[in-house]
Amino acid sequence: MSASMPSQDPSATAPGQAPENAIEISGLRKTYAASGSDAAKEALKGVDLAIPAGSVFGLLGPNGAGKSTLINILAGLVLKSAGKVSIWGFDQDKNPRQSRASIGVMPQELNLDAFFTPRGSLDVQAGLYGVPRSQRRTEEILEFVGLADKADAYARSLSGGMRRRLLLGKALVHQPQVLVLDEPTAGVDIELRQMLWTNIRRLNKEQGTTIILTTHYLEEAEEMCDEIAIINHGEVIAQDSTSALLSRLDQKSLAITSAKPADLPPPPPGMKAERRDDGSFLFTYSPAETGPDAIFATLASHGITIADVTSVEPHLEDVFLSLTKPT
Ligand SMILES: Nc1ncnc2c1ncn2[C@@H]1O[C@H](COP(=O)(O)OP(=O)(O)O)[C@@H](O)[C@H]1O
Ligand SMILES: [Mg+2]
Repeated sequence: MSASMPSQDPSATAPGQAPENAIEISGLRKTYAASGSDAAKEALKGVDLAIPAGSVFGLLGPNGAGKSTLINILAGLVLKSAGKVSIWGFDQDKNPRQSRASIGVMPQELNLDAFFTPRGSLDVQAGLYGVPRSQRRTEEILEFVGLADKADAYARSLSGGMRRRLLLGKALVHQPQVLVLDEPTAGVDIELRQMLWTNIRRLNKEQGTTIILTTHYLEEAEEMCDEIAIINHGEVIAQDSTSALLSRLDQKSLAITSAKPADLPPPPPGMKAERRDDGSFLFTYSPAETGPDAIFATLASHGITIADVTSVEPHLEDVFLSLTKPT
Protein backbone atom coordinates (compact mmCIF):
# COMPACT_ATOMS: atom_id res chain seq x y z
CA MET A 1 0.00 0.00 0.00
CA SER A 2 2.61 2.51 -1.00
CA ALA A 3 1.32 3.99 -4.22
CA SER A 4 0.15 7.54 -3.89
CA MET A 5 -3.55 8.12 -4.31
CA PRO A 6 -4.49 9.94 -7.49
CA SER A 7 -5.68 13.43 -6.83
CA GLN A 8 -9.35 14.22 -6.81
CA ASP A 9 -11.07 16.49 -9.25
CA PRO A 10 -9.80 19.82 -7.88
CA SER A 11 -13.17 21.50 -8.37
CA ALA A 12 -14.73 18.99 -6.01
CA THR A 13 -12.37 19.83 -3.17
CA ALA A 14 -11.76 23.54 -3.64
CA PRO A 15 -11.65 24.95 -0.10
CA GLY A 16 -14.29 27.53 -0.91
CA GLN A 17 -16.73 24.79 -1.79
CA ALA A 18 -16.33 22.60 1.24
CA PRO A 19 -19.22 22.94 3.67
CA GLU A 20 -18.36 23.62 7.30
CA ASN A 21 -19.71 20.25 8.30
CA ALA A 22 -19.28 17.11 6.25
CA ILE A 23 -22.26 15.55 8.02
CA GLU A 24 -25.16 17.15 9.86
CA ILE A 25 -27.64 14.98 11.68
CA SER A 26 -30.61 16.16 13.69
CA GLY A 27 -33.30 14.31 15.59
CA LEU A 28 -32.24 11.03 14.03
CA ARG A 29 -34.32 8.06 15.19
CA LYS A 30 -34.38 4.44 14.18
CA THR A 31 -36.72 1.76 15.43
CA TYR A 32 -36.23 -1.70 13.98
CA ALA A 33 -39.64 -3.35 13.60
CA ALA A 34 -40.48 -6.38 15.69
CA SER A 35 -39.94 -9.65 13.87
CA GLY A 36 -40.73 -13.16 15.02
CA SER A 37 -39.98 -13.37 18.71
CA ASP A 38 -37.84 -10.20 18.65
CA ALA A 39 -39.53 -7.11 20.03
CA ALA A 40 -39.20 -3.79 18.21
CA LYS A 41 -35.86 -2.13 19.02
CA GLU A 42 -35.28 1.59 19.29
CA ALA A 43 -31.64 1.72 18.17
CA LEU A 44 -31.32 5.54 17.81
CA LYS A 45 -33.26 7.82 20.12
CA GLY A 46 -32.89 11.29 18.62
CA VAL A 47 -29.26 11.85 17.63
CA ASP A 48 -27.88 15.30 16.85
CA LEU A 49 -24.39 15.36 15.42
CA ALA A 50 -22.22 17.71 13.37
CA ILE A 51 -19.04 16.32 11.89
CA PRO A 52 -16.56 18.99 10.72
CA ALA A 53 -15.32 18.74 7.14
CA GLY A 54 -11.71 17.62 6.98
CA SER A 55 -11.70 15.96 10.36
CA VAL A 56 -10.93 12.44 11.44
CA PHE A 57 -13.99 11.77 13.54
CA GLY A 58 -14.45 8.86 15.91
CA LEU A 59 -17.76 7.34 16.85
CA LEU A 60 -17.26 5.36 20.03
CA GLY A 61 -19.61 3.29 22.06
CA PRO A 62 -20.16 -0.14 23.54
CA ASN A 63 -21.59 -3.00 21.53
CA GLY A 64 -25.21 -2.42 20.59
CA ALA A 65 -24.95 1.35 21.14
CA GLY A 66 -26.23 2.11 17.65
CA LYS A 67 -22.99 2.95 15.81
CA SER A 68 -23.55 0.66 12.82
CA THR A 69 -27.18 1.72 12.60
CA LEU A 70 -26.08 5.35 12.34
CA ILE A 71 -23.44 4.57 9.76
CA ASN A 72 -25.76 2.38 7.72
CA ILE A 73 -28.28 5.21 7.63
CA LEU A 74 -25.55 7.52 6.30
CA ALA A 75 -24.71 4.89 3.71
CA GLY A 76 -28.34 4.58 2.66
CA LEU A 77 -28.39 0.91 3.70
CA VAL A 78 -30.88 1.40 6.55
CA LEU A 79 -33.95 3.63 6.38
CA LYS A 80 -34.25 6.12 9.23
CA SER A 81 -37.51 6.32 11.19
CA ALA A 82 -37.30 10.08 11.72
CA GLY A 83 -34.88 12.99 11.57
CA LYS A 84 -32.71 14.85 9.13
CA VAL A 85 -29.40 13.79 7.61
CA SER A 86 -27.30 15.91 5.33
CA ILE A 87 -24.09 14.77 3.71
CA TRP A 88 -21.67 17.33 2.27
CA GLY A 89 -24.48 19.86 2.39
CA PHE A 90 -26.98 17.61 0.55
CA ASP A 91 -30.15 16.59 2.35
CA GLN A 92 -30.45 12.84 2.13
CA ASP A 93 -34.18 13.02 1.32
CA LYS A 94 -34.17 16.02 -1.01
CA ASN A 95 -30.92 15.27 -2.85
CA PRO A 96 -30.47 11.52 -2.53
CA ARG A 97 -28.18 11.24 -5.54
CA GLN A 98 -25.69 13.96 -4.53
CA SER A 99 -25.68 12.93 -0.89
CA ARG A 100 -24.97 9.33 -1.86
CA ALA A 101 -22.22 10.37 -4.25
CA SER A 102 -20.47 12.30 -1.47
CA ILE A 103 -19.95 9.35 0.82
CA GLY A 104 -18.11 6.03 0.65
CA VAL A 105 -18.64 3.36 3.26
CA MET A 106 -16.47 0.48 4.32
CA PRO A 107 -18.99 -1.72 6.13
CA GLN A 108 -18.38 -3.78 9.24
CA GLU A 109 -19.57 -6.98 7.57
CA LEU A 110 -17.47 -8.68 4.90
CA ASN A 111 -20.12 -8.68 2.20
CA LEU A 112 -18.14 -9.51 -0.91
CA ASP A 113 -19.37 -11.44 -3.87
CA ALA A 114 -17.21 -14.57 -3.97
CA PHE A 115 -17.34 -14.73 -7.76
CA PHE A 116 -15.79 -11.37 -8.46
CA THR A 117 -12.10 -10.66 -8.59
CA PRO A 118 -10.85 -7.47 -6.91
CA ARG A 119 -10.61 -5.80 -10.32
CA GLY A 120 -14.12 -6.99 -11.18
CA SER A 121 -15.54 -5.84 -7.84
CA LEU A 122 -14.09 -2.36 -8.25
CA ASP A 123 -15.45 -2.13 -11.78
CA VAL A 124 -18.93 -3.18 -10.73
CA GLN A 125 -18.85 -0.72 -7.85
CA ALA A 126 -17.71 2.09 -10.16
CA GLY A 127 -20.56 1.18 -12.49
CA LEU A 128 -23.06 1.36 -9.62
CA TYR A 129 -21.84 4.85 -8.84
CA GLY A 130 -21.98 5.90 -12.46
CA VAL A 131 -18.24 6.54 -12.78
CA PRO A 132 -17.54 6.66 -16.53
CA ARG A 133 -14.95 4.13 -17.77
CA SER A 134 -12.54 6.89 -18.73
CA GLN A 135 -12.55 8.18 -15.14
CA ARG A 136 -12.17 4.87 -13.39
CA ARG A 137 -9.04 4.46 -11.32
CA THR A 138 -9.22 0.73 -10.81
CA GLU A 139 -5.48 0.11 -11.15
CA GLU A 140 -4.54 3.00 -8.87
CA ILE A 141 -6.97 1.87 -6.20
CA LEU A 142 -5.66 -1.70 -6.42
CA GLU A 143 -2.16 -0.28 -5.88
CA PHE A 144 -3.35 1.94 -3.05
CA VAL A 145 -4.91 -0.90 -1.08
CA GLY A 146 -2.05 -3.27 -1.90
CA LEU A 147 -4.03 -5.71 -4.05
CA ALA A 148 -2.38 -5.12 -7.43
CA ASP A 149 -0.90 -8.63 -7.39
CA LYS A 150 -4.29 -10.12 -6.47
CA ALA A 151 -6.26 -8.11 -9.02
CA ASP A 152 -7.51 -11.20 -10.83
CA ALA A 153 -7.84 -13.64 -7.94
CA TYR A 154 -11.34 -14.74 -6.97
CA ALA A 155 -12.60 -13.05 -3.83
CA ARG A 156 -13.18 -16.40 -2.15
CA SER A 157 -9.43 -17.09 -2.37
CA LEU A 158 -8.54 -13.83 -0.63
CA SER A 159 -7.56 -13.76 3.04
CA GLY A 160 -9.69 -11.85 5.54
CA GLY A 161 -7.22 -8.98 5.51
CA MET A 162 -7.25 -8.77 1.71
CA ARG A 163 -11.05 -8.70 1.71
CA ARG A 164 -11.01 -5.80 4.13
CA ARG A 165 -8.62 -3.93 1.87
CA LEU A 166 -10.88 -4.63 -1.07
CA LEU A 167 -13.81 -3.20 0.89
CA LEU A 168 -11.75 -0.05 1.44
CA GLY A 169 -11.00 0.07 -2.28
CA LYS A 170 -14.70 -0.26 -3.13
CA ALA A 171 -15.53 2.64 -0.81
CA LEU A 172 -13.09 4.81 -2.78
CA VAL A 173 -14.11 4.22 -6.42
CA HIS A 174 -16.23 7.37 -6.70
CA GLN A 175 -13.72 9.57 -4.82
CA PRO A 176 -16.06 10.47 -1.99
CA GLN A 177 -15.40 13.55 0.13
CA VAL A 178 -16.51 11.58 3.18
CA LEU A 179 -15.16 8.13 3.96
CA VAL A 180 -16.89 6.09 6.64
CA LEU A 181 -15.29 3.03 8.18
CA ASP A 182 -17.23 0.78 10.51
CA GLU A 183 -14.82 -1.03 12.87
CA PRO A 184 -12.14 -1.17 10.15
CA THR A 185 -9.54 -2.79 12.37
CA ALA A 186 -11.68 -5.15 14.42
CA GLY A 187 -10.11 -8.59 14.30
CA VAL A 188 -7.33 -7.69 11.86
CA ASP A 189 -3.67 -8.32 12.55
CA ILE A 190 -1.33 -5.56 13.66
CA GLU A 191 0.36 -5.25 10.27
CA LEU A 192 -2.90 -4.72 8.42
CA ARG A 193 -4.10 -2.32 11.08
CA GLN A 194 -0.99 -0.19 10.57
CA MET A 195 -1.48 -0.25 6.80
CA LEU A 196 -5.09 0.80 7.11
CA TRP A 197 -4.25 3.65 9.46
CA THR A 198 -1.40 4.86 7.28
CA ASN A 199 -3.70 4.93 4.26
CA ILE A 200 -6.54 6.57 6.10
CA ARG A 201 -4.24 9.27 7.47
CA ARG A 202 -2.92 9.91 3.97
CA LEU A 203 -6.40 10.23 2.50
CA ASN A 204 -7.20 12.75 5.20
CA LYS A 205 -3.95 14.77 4.93
CA GLU A 206 -3.35 14.61 1.18
CA GLN A 207 -6.88 14.56 -0.22
CA GLY A 208 -8.64 16.34 2.62
CA THR A 209 -11.08 13.45 2.84
CA THR A 210 -13.26 13.61 5.94
CA ILE A 211 -12.92 10.33 7.82
CA ILE A 212 -15.55 8.91 10.13
CA LEU A 213 -14.74 5.71 11.91
CA THR A 214 -16.16 3.55 14.61
CA THR A 215 -13.80 1.62 16.78
CA HIS A 216 -13.84 0.03 20.15
CA TYR A 217 -10.09 0.37 20.42
CA LEU A 218 -9.95 3.47 22.54
CA GLU A 219 -6.22 3.94 22.14
CA GLU A 220 -6.71 3.98 18.41
CA ALA A 221 -9.42 6.63 18.63
CA GLU A 222 -7.23 8.67 20.93
CA GLU A 223 -4.34 8.51 18.52
CA MET A 224 -6.25 8.93 15.25
CA CYS A 225 -9.25 11.17 15.88
CA ASP A 226 -9.41 14.96 16.10
CA GLU A 227 -12.92 14.79 17.43
CA ILE A 228 -15.00 12.11 19.08
CA ALA A 229 -18.65 11.42 19.80
CA ILE A 230 -19.54 8.84 22.41
CA ILE A 231 -22.78 7.04 21.79
CA ASN A 232 -24.56 4.85 24.32
CA HIS A 233 -28.00 3.22 24.15
CA GLY A 234 -28.86 5.13 20.97
CA GLU A 235 -27.95 8.56 22.33
CA VAL A 236 -24.89 10.79 21.90
CA ILE A 237 -23.68 11.40 25.43
CA ALA A 238 -20.59 13.45 24.57
CA GLN A 239 -19.07 15.16 21.55
CA ASP A 240 -15.86 17.12 21.73
CA SER A 241 -12.31 17.39 20.48
CA THR A 242 -10.25 14.48 21.71
CA SER A 243 -8.11 16.77 23.88
CA ALA A 244 -11.15 18.50 25.41
CA LEU A 245 -12.76 15.15 26.10
CA LEU A 246 -9.61 14.04 27.87
CA SER A 247 -9.33 17.23 29.89
CA ARG A 248 -12.99 16.93 30.84
CA LEU A 249 -11.98 14.16 33.15
CA ASP A 250 -11.11 16.05 36.33
CA GLN A 251 -8.26 13.74 37.19
CA LYS A 252 -4.50 14.02 37.13
CA SER A 253 -1.74 11.72 38.23
CA LEU A 254 1.86 12.40 39.16
CA ALA A 255 4.43 9.64 39.26
CA ILE A 256 7.26 10.26 41.71
CA THR A 257 10.51 8.36 41.75
CA SER A 258 12.25 8.43 45.08
CA ALA A 259 16.01 8.96 45.16
CA LYS A 260 16.37 6.07 47.64
CA PRO A 261 14.14 3.05 48.30
CA ALA A 262 11.25 4.20 50.50
CA ASP A 263 7.85 3.04 51.68
CA LEU A 264 4.76 4.40 50.00
CA PRO A 265 3.73 7.38 52.15
CA PRO A 266 0.06 7.87 53.07
CA PRO A 267 -1.62 10.10 50.46
CA PRO A 268 -2.48 13.71 51.22
CA PRO A 269 -6.22 14.32 51.91
CA GLY A 270 -8.42 13.67 48.86
CA MET A 271 -5.72 11.77 46.96
CA LYS A 272 -5.02 8.20 46.09
CA ALA A 273 -1.51 6.79 46.36
CA GLU A 274 -0.22 3.56 44.89
CA ARG A 275 3.08 1.98 44.10
CA ARG A 276 3.68 1.27 40.43
CA ASP A 277 5.47 -1.75 39.00
CA ASP A 278 8.64 0.30 38.45
CA GLY A 279 8.68 1.22 42.16
CA SER A 280 7.57 4.82 41.64
CA PHE A 281 4.68 6.33 43.64
CA LEU A 282 1.57 7.33 41.75
CA PHE A 283 -0.59 10.07 43.26
CA THR A 284 -3.99 10.61 41.65
CA TYR A 285 -6.10 13.63 42.45
CA SER A 286 -8.72 16.03 41.21
CA PRO A 287 -7.03 19.29 40.14
CA ALA A 288 -10.15 21.20 41.19
CA GLU A 289 -9.60 20.08 44.78
CA THR A 290 -5.89 19.77 45.40
CA GLY A 291 -2.53 19.93 43.68
CA PRO A 292 1.12 18.85 43.53
CA ASP A 293 2.12 21.03 46.52
CA ALA A 294 0.30 18.65 48.85
CA ILE A 295 2.25 15.74 47.37
CA PHE A 296 5.61 17.47 47.75
CA ALA A 297 4.78 18.43 51.36
CA THR A 298 3.89 14.83 52.21
CA LEU A 299 7.07 13.51 50.61
CA ALA A 300 9.19 16.09 52.47
CA SER A 301 7.55 15.24 55.78
CA HIS A 302 8.44 11.58 55.23
CA GLY A 303 12.03 12.43 54.41
CA ILE A 304 11.71 11.27 50.81
CA THR A 305 14.02 12.91 48.28
CA ILE A 306 12.56 13.17 44.80
CA ALA A 307 14.66 11.90 41.90
CA ASP A 308 12.07 12.38 39.17
CA VAL A 309 8.50 13.58 38.59
CA THR A 310 6.33 12.71 35.59
CA SER A 311 2.78 13.73 34.84
CA VAL A 312 0.52 10.84 33.78
CA GLU A 313 -2.33 11.98 31.55
CA PRO A 314 -5.75 10.35 31.73
CA HIS A 315 -6.73 8.11 28.85
CA LEU A 316 -9.83 8.09 26.75
CA GLU A 317 -10.66 4.81 28.37
CA ASP A 318 -11.11 6.58 31.72
CA VAL A 319 -13.40 9.17 30.12
CA PHE A 320 -15.34 6.49 28.33
CA LEU A 321 -15.81 4.42 31.47
CA SER A 322 -16.88 7.40 33.52
CA LEU A 323 -19.47 8.37 30.90
CA THR A 324 -20.87 4.95 30.06
CA LYS A 325 -20.86 3.34 33.49
CA PRO A 326 -24.34 2.14 34.48
CA THR A 327 -25.96 4.55 36.93
N1 LIG B 1 -31.43 -5.31 11.42
C1 LIG B 1 -31.74 -5.22 12.72
N2 LIG B 1 -32.93 -5.64 13.19
C2 LIG B 1 -33.26 -5.51 14.49
N3 LIG B 1 -32.44 -4.98 15.42
C3 LIG B 1 -31.25 -4.56 15.03
C4 LIG B 1 -30.81 -4.63 13.66
N4 LIG B 1 -29.56 -4.12 13.56
C5 LIG B 1 -29.23 -3.74 14.81
N5 LIG B 1 -30.22 -3.99 15.69
C6 LIG B 1 -30.22 -3.67 17.13
O1 LIG B 1 -30.05 -2.29 17.28
C7 LIG B 1 -29.13 -2.00 18.36
C8 LIG B 1 -27.95 -1.21 17.83
O2 LIG B 1 -27.16 -2.08 17.01
P1 LIG B 1 -25.91 -1.56 16.18
O3 LIG B 1 -26.29 -0.32 15.46
O4 LIG B 1 -25.41 -2.70 15.37
O5 LIG B 1 -24.88 -1.20 17.35
P2 LIG B 1 -23.28 -1.11 17.36
O6 LIG B 1 -22.81 -1.02 15.95
O7 LIG B 1 -23.00 0.12 18.18
O8 LIG B 1 -22.79 -2.35 18.04
C9 LIG B 1 -28.78 -3.33 18.98
O9 LIG B 1 -29.64 -3.58 20.06
C10 LIG B 1 -29.04 -4.32 17.85
O10 LIG B 1 -29.39 -5.58 18.37
MG1 LIG C 1 -21.43 -2.11 14.85
